Amino acid sequence: MRIGMVGTGYVGLVSGTCFAEFGTEVVCVDKDESKIARLKAGEIPIYEPGLDDLVARQVSAGRLSFTTDIKDAVKGADAVFIAVGTPPRRSDGHADLSFVFQAAKEIAETMEGYTVIVTKSTVPVGTAREIERLVREVRPDADFDVCSNPEFLREGAAINDFMRPDRVVIGAEGERAKEVLRALYRPLYINETPIVFTAPETSEIIKYASNAFLATKITFINEIADLCEKTGGNVQDVAKAMGLDGRIGSKFLHAGPGYGGSCFPKDTLALTQTGQKYGTPQTIVESVVTANANRQRAMADRIIKACGGDVKGKKIGILGVSFKPNTDDVRDAPSLVIIPALQDAGAQVSACDPAAVEQASRYLKGVEWCEDPYSVAQNADCLAILTEWNEFRGLHMDKLAEIMKVKTLADLRNVYKADDMARRGFRYISIGRPAVGMEDA
Ligand code: UDX
Repeated sequence: MRIGMVGTGYVGLVSGTCFAEFGTEVVCVDKDESKIARLKAGEIPIYEPGLDDLVARQVSAGRLSFTTDIKDAVKGADAVFIAVGTPPRRSDGHADLSFVFQAAKEIAETMEGYTVIVTKSTVPVGTAREIERLVREVRPDADFDVCSNPEFLREGAAINDFMRPDRVVIGAEGERAKEVLRALYRPLYINETPIVFTAPETSEIIKYASNAFLATKITFINEIADLCEKTGGNVQDVAKAMGLDGRIGSKFLHAGPGYGGSCFPKDTLALTQTGQKYGTPQTIVESVVTANANRQRAMADRIIKACGGDVKGKKIGILGVSFKPNTDDVRDAPSLVIIPALQDAGAQVSACDPAAVEQASRYLKGVEWCEDPYSVAQNADCLAILTEWNEFRGLHMDKLAEIMKVKTLADLRNVYKADDMARRGFRYISIGRPAVGMEDA
């Protein structure tokens, strides 16, 4: 089989490469010439563990290639996937579909023979139908179907998520289209992966509902964490006991500084907009969006409080700026809210991150970027963990105690144990657990 993948961003590149690993011939196309030039030179423009080896293997096997010419990707393809960005429109938070529609038009102009056009980008309900109408307008004679096939890839674990998914969702009508997609995903049958066939509308809603539900779960436990802090409870124990209930499940109950990333913030917002559009307000998700934004802002105040209420002229060290570990992505990361708030309050900020410094320095100004946690902590009045990278999970506390000006740790990912930190004489705040040494703060 042969497919075209339009868009070599995170989703397109990972999906295209993994389809090639499954034995399909894949041509990835992108308008960004420099990106394609880098990919052709064997350079991977994103940080995703394992992707560089996989791309190299598929390119040398002759199954994966890159181009800037959409014709190369579309001509003779059994299916063409649209995996371009759907960023929130600045004006109203609706998903901006202009890149999706542009790609659909270009596919329409070049496709030949029966072609399945598949949306992999996260698109609001109704988009597959709209693409169908648009393609029909451009090519009234064409033989095609439009399907929805949302991705559920987590950054940092995307290859595994593609190869061993919990489920594959395909929104398709008509046996011919289903057969093409079934054939593409056939290698997953060995793991008995459930493949859910639905109408395109249902499939589009499944994607938003899944992400919004996960974001709700996180926001729920974050608010329970606030309650724990005020009352002496421990959110980790609460989450553990809740998670043992099979109806609730233990995943996505880690309290933290608020969710970020390329999907949850954008998709929750878009779902609330879709709800408004159809007169079916998604009030729970609306609250989640507000609560998460408030939470990210409140985190800076916590750090300031841990520093005694005033950070003017103080040095605050930040560990981790990516929105989660194993990615260089800083989109909607708590760091982008917390660091400027600390700077506005007069703090000098130093920071390090194993992968995201280049990305973060585009948005964060006036930060002293360091190579490692100990340079960050040197002479600091407070150290704050914003991302739970492995590199920050086994810090030498004795060394930190020696080099920090004031022994204060704000652990916003609950990496360390409060009694341990108390023993070492640190003032320690975390999320949803009793603080240490804050009596005098
Ligand atoms: C998410 C979805 O998981 C994936 O299925 C979808 O297709 C894209 O969006 P991703 O954004 O890569 O993936 O990361 P994820 O691991 O889901 O984490 C998202 C955010 O939630 C991060 O900021 C993370 O720190 C936060 N999070 C996650 C928590 O705060 N607590 C948790 O228990 C889990």
